Amino acid sequence: MTAALSLHDLRKSFGAMSIIRGVSLDIENGERHAIIGPNGAGKSTLFHLTSGRIRPTSGEVSLHGERITGLPPFEINRRGLSRSFQITNIFPKLSVYENLRCATLWSLGHKYAFWRSINGLRDVRERSQWLMEQIGLTGRRDVPAGVLTYAEQRALEIGVTIGGGADVIMLDEPTAGMNNSETEQAVALIRKVTEGKTLVMVEHDMSVVFNLADRISVLVYGKIIATDTPDRIRENAEVREAYLGQASHQ
Ligand SMILES: Nc1ncnc2c1ncn2[C@@H]1O[C@H](COP(=O)(O)OP(=O)(O)OP(=O)(O)O)[C@@H](O)[C@H]1O
Ligand SMILES: [Mg+2]
Repeated sequence: MTAALSLHDLRKSFGAMSIIRGVSLDIENGERHAIIGPNGAGKSTLFHLTSGRIRPTSGEVSLHGERITGLPPFEINRRGLSRSFQITNIFPKLSVYENLRCATLWSLGHKYAFWRSINGLRDVRERSQWLMEQIGLTGRRDVPAGVLTYAEQRALEIGVTIGGGADVIMLDEPTAGMNNSETEQAVALIRKVTEGKTLVMVEHDMSVVFNLADRISVLVYGKIIATDTPDRIRENAEVREAYLGQASHQ
């Protein structure tokens, strides 16, 4: 079967600095895959390379068997890959509903037309409403995104990320900065909204990783040192040495 997402010998240098140093990885359809590793390992850079934000120095990225290397982000998004950012990335002055509507509009094939009111587009309305229910923010419909709580903003961001209907979802540290109960809610939300989709997630919280992921890749200094099931990653001596042992001292 063709992998949902396939990275082949991906490399990225910034000047003389080699940041991603030959990453190959196949992520299957419907898999939940976590990428873990120390700060500065290159996890976000790997996301940028995959989603088209930056171009790799060499190597290939394929989505459902089609080469997407070097395509602009909107083109990769149109082909079914959507990502969130490590830093919350929503329109603060627009309401919850308006943020979701933005995410929905284009994906339903509507082009901007200044003479037509977007309020009249029933499919957009229904889908935005559905998204708002999924992320549990129906009660906050008209609140500007900028005044939501941090956890609500992250939930909205997940709504925006899935809003376009992509089937490969990439989330960069979706629970960063959350307390325990917020994290639990975020995990439940991620589980629900990525049902039947492919999820690639960067995450530092090991309880989230071991709870959600089918497989885990460990990235250290721009190289994947292991890809395996959570149980086997936990037992892997090299991983413990490079990361897990270190994380438990933090
Ligand atoms: N545009 C850039 N120019 C130069 N160096 C960069 C650039 N982007 C990232 N780097 C460097 O690449 C390395 C990896 O950064 P990256 O943000 O991918 O790490 P990360 O694994 O996501 O870390 P964290 O866990 O802190 O989010 C860092 O040393 C960073 O300083
Ligand atoms: Mg990062």
